[in-house]
Amino acid sequence: MSQPTVVPSAPDILSPEFVADPYPFHRVLRDHHPATYHEATQSWLISRYADVAHAFRDPAFSSRNYDWQLEPIHGRTILQMEGKEHATHRSLLNPFFRGKGLEAFLPVITQNAAQLIGSTVERAAGDLIDGIAGRGRADLVADFTTWFPINVMVDMLGLPKSDHERFHRWYHSIMAHLNNLAGDPAITAQADQTREELRDYMLPIIRERRGGDGEDLLSRLCRAEVDGEQMTDEEIKAFVSLLLVAGGETTDKAIASMVRNLLDNPDQMAEVRADRSLVDAVIAETLRFTGPVHMIMRQTEAEVRIEDTTLPAGATCILMLAAANRDERHFANPDVFDIHRPDLDVAKAFSGAANHVQFILGRHFCVGSLLAREEMTVALNLVLDRLPNLRYQPGFTPQEAGLYTRSVPSLLVEFDIPAA
Ligand code: HEM
Repeated sequence: MSQPTVVPSAPDILSPEFVADPYPFHRVLRDHHPATYHEATQSWLISRYADVAHAFRDPAFSSRNYDWQLEPIHGRTILQMEGKEHATHRSLLNPFFRGKGLEAFLPVITQNAAQLIGSTVERAAGDLIDGIAGRGRADLVADFTTWFPINVMVDMLGLPKSDHERFHRWYHSIMAHLNNLAGDPAITAQADQTREELRDYMLPIIRERRGGDGEDLLSRLCRAEVDGEQMTDEEIKAFVSLLLVAGGETTDKAIASMVRNLLDNPDQMAEVRADRSLVDAVIAETLRFTGPVHMIMRQTEAEVRIEDTTLPAGATCILMLAAANRDERHFANPDVFDIHRPDLDVAKAFSGAANHVQFILGRHFCVGSLLAREEMTVALNLVLDRLPNLRYQPGFTPQEAGLYTRSVPSLLVEFDIPAA
């Protein structure tokens, strides 16, 4: 007689085991509980690629969850808009993040990365001279990735370089608030203060730039019009606040994971070092294998059916991007990092026709996907060129952290310093 199959119970996404290593639990969800209710977060977990991709394209899943999830910290942003209001805001933003609009900002990106990597190398060389360390050493997260996308943003907006540190502080405060699942009141108070400080800082600058003729992103956003409509001062302030997280945290974590994936796969590191036409494949496979955004929420506007389960209208859903991107129904050997995988469409990986879901799909598809690609390309080329023989510091093992967004919080590396 055949044994009855034992169906494992649905994992608790808030348990320490899940947070330590979510990937085996993603498989349990996909195989046995593709649409399941999670009591503690009062949300439906959706984990298969086909269901996640479909939900992002289906208007029955709206982004109204951001009314309570993000509006209290940023103000009202494009993320929670739908319909005509959303389309108008996309049309206002797209010209600055695609084609010639983006090209105009490329020198800002290159200069920022070069300065940061340059100072990492200089500091390491200084250590060498001082006899403190025999080799170049750095924490690539603390010294490079957490600074780079924020500095690019501040410079693109045409704000003073002396404010890099201030924005970095605001960025960490907003991120801490978003990850404050335990509801620590000190973090909430800090985030409230950040919101006030950012508002007091931004509003006078926005008013001043309305009348000017500056070419920076902020001045151009202040003047941009679609169908005779401009963004209001509050909307521009909210957008700048959103950019700190949408364009900062994501790219910061993606760059850290990209370098980590190559350090874990030295053969593939050697290949891309020798052949830079593989850079796009490294970035795309990093987004699939270790994309920084693990979960995105949505709300049902009507009753919907996922696999064999009916979800009521008004339900909160957690669309599990990381689980979808490792769905064996869509990618073969999904738990392997492979820049040559034939089933990932690298040419389309940064467009709305992508076949991974790290930038989601449909009407809210990431506005900054091409900027992210550019920043990751510049970062990877510099790391390969300026940090020869890159390797982990002895005894260091990278350990991912994070639930909604995830990456390695530190990356302790060594590299050779060319003789002077
Ligand atoms: C690797 C880096 C990045 C990843 C993985 C990423 C991921 C995402 C995801 C998952 C969304 C959908 C959010 C939702 O609809 O709920 C999104 C939207 C968005 N992203 Fe990105 N992003 C990245 C970089 C950037 C950058 C550099 C910018 C800077 C401009 C940016 C700006 C935005 C904006 C403004 C939206 C909202 C679009 C809308 O609601 O229509 N992102 N991104």
